[in-house]
Amino acid sequence: MVQSMGFGIDFGTTNSVAAVFNGEELTAFVDPNNLPHPSVLWYKGEPQPIVGREAKKRIKDFGNTPGNKFITSIKSQIHKQEEFEIFGKPYYTWQFASEIFRFLKEDAKERYPGYPDMMEAVVTVPLYFNGKQRKAIRKAAERAGIAVKTFIHEPFAAVVGYLFADPSQVEYLKEKRENILVFDWGGGTLDITLVKLDSGTIYEVNNQGYPDKSGDYFDELLMKDVIDTFQQENGITPHGFRLEPGIESILLHEVEFAKIDLSRKDNVSILLADGFYSINGKRYPLFSDISRRHFETIINDDIQDAMSLVDRALHQAHLQASQINQVLLIGGTSRIPLLKKQMRNTFGTTKVIEIPNADTVIAEGAAIISFYDWPPELVRPICIQLSDESHYTIFDKKTILKPEFAQKGVVFFCTDNREGEGRLIITENRGEQGHQVKEIVSVPVSNKLKNIYTERVVADFRVDLDVILRISARGSVEGKAVYLDIHDLCYGLRFA
Ligand SMILES: Nc1ncnc2c1ncn2[C@@H]1O[C@H](COP(=O)(O)OP(=O)(O)OP(=O)(O)O)[C@@H](O)[C@H]1O
Ligand SMILES: [Mg+2]
Repeated sequence: MVQSMGFGIDFGTTNSVAAVFNGEELTAFVDPNNLPHPSVLWYKGEPQPIVGREAKKRIKDFGNTPGNKFITSIKSQIHKQEEFEIFGKPYYTWQFASEIFRFLKEDAKERYPGYPDMMEAVVTVPLYFNGKQRKAIRKAAERAGIAVKTFIHEPFAAVVGYLFADPSQVEYLKEKRENILVFDWGGGTLDITLVKLDSGTIYEVNNQGYPDKSGDYFDELLMKDVIDTFQQENGITPHGFRLEPGIESILLHEVEFAKIDLSRKDNVSILLADGFYSINGKRYPLFSDISRRHFETIINDDIQDAMSLVDRALHQAHLQASQINQVLLIGGTSRIPLLKKQMRNTFGTTKVIEIPNADTVIAEGAAIISFYDWPPELVRPICIQLSDESHYTIFDKKTILKPEFAQKGVVFFCTDNREGEGRLIITENRGEQGHQVKEIVSVPVSNKLKNIYTERVVADFRVDLDVILRISARGSVEGKAVYLDIHDLCYGLRFA
């Protein structure tokens, strides 16, 4: 069934975007300067925070000075269960995220007459977001009146947004066979996906990523460097050095802007004249000159690590760089010139593509998937290795990754119960490359000799609404069920 409008949301660490697709036109909701909405909240006394660009702009003026609290990069903390206190009131991280979802919806409603108050949307997530993180995002969206239809990986949504924005291309794409590498380096995560387009299907072949070393991490590295230089130049000992929280948040913000500027300039400076730091009654301003070359020395190792992940993706997929047809650079951190240079060296200048809608393409891809109602499908069969080394298939490839299509209960018998454990070896069938072990689940069973060959392990496999494969298994030992989640399944979808 095709619904009349598809909604997609890219909830990002630094920036967030909502998009809608009506089968002909794609609309992404950005701010008046054509930029995505910053994922920033500014609490300044009232219960309702100011969200987006207005909040981000004001970090420079107020920082976390008394009476002001800025919440940034909440996506990186979404797994946290504890409460955060703001002016005496407790909040969970999903509540902050919910303010961003609500803001995106209100903004879209103002500009797009048909944008509803309640909707079902495809929401994107980084590759390695686990069940807890997805649940928190689902809750955040639901509380803002947005039901999550399904989760799609961010780079995968990007490639869909890139290829399928023009509906007249769909016919043409049916005939195409291509290998596309999506390199999405944002504020919180690096997500690399190798995608195959083949006979009306598009699917992830290999996924690689870092959960933490991204734009925010570079800001922290640069801030540390700026502070170290400040201390050296002013003869201030690092021991016991502490910036006021207000100043620290302003400096971090200035450092981010300096970092971004360094992608187009050779030198930048940061000036915090007033009361940057004071000790023993003496006030010190901060004036910092930073060259691109110096910044590159700070981040060089991380750039090389990111390039190694690209190599690993190619290696694991048994592909050479020359077999990649297109490389999509997405995410603000991918704009760093050193990274772009290395990508071009690896793949050749013409294959590395920087698209004009790089900031919105993920949300657009999600809106397209939502419009066509393309459900995610399993790319490779999930199996259990049996004692004779053969494999029993739990879910075949192309299984739709939704609870109603992907659930199975199976009973296994232990061939050897002497150690009191039954082992379920879960593998992914990689075709010619054989089976790769994904997880080993150890289930307590009776080790009584007489039970040999009869000791049972009852296992239940199901993919939940958050596209997580949940496995529960129990043997004869009372109360000793074992639970396991697999959250790194490769997705694919059939568009023809
Ligand atoms: N020209 C630039 N050069 C270097 N870094 C940049 C540039 N533009 C933006 N950034 C950085 O990119 C990051 C934001 O990128 P993006 O908007 O893609 O992230 P996000 O989607 O919010 O994060 P994620 O996908 O990790 O959740 C920030 O750290 C920002 O400072
Ligand atoms: Mg992103």
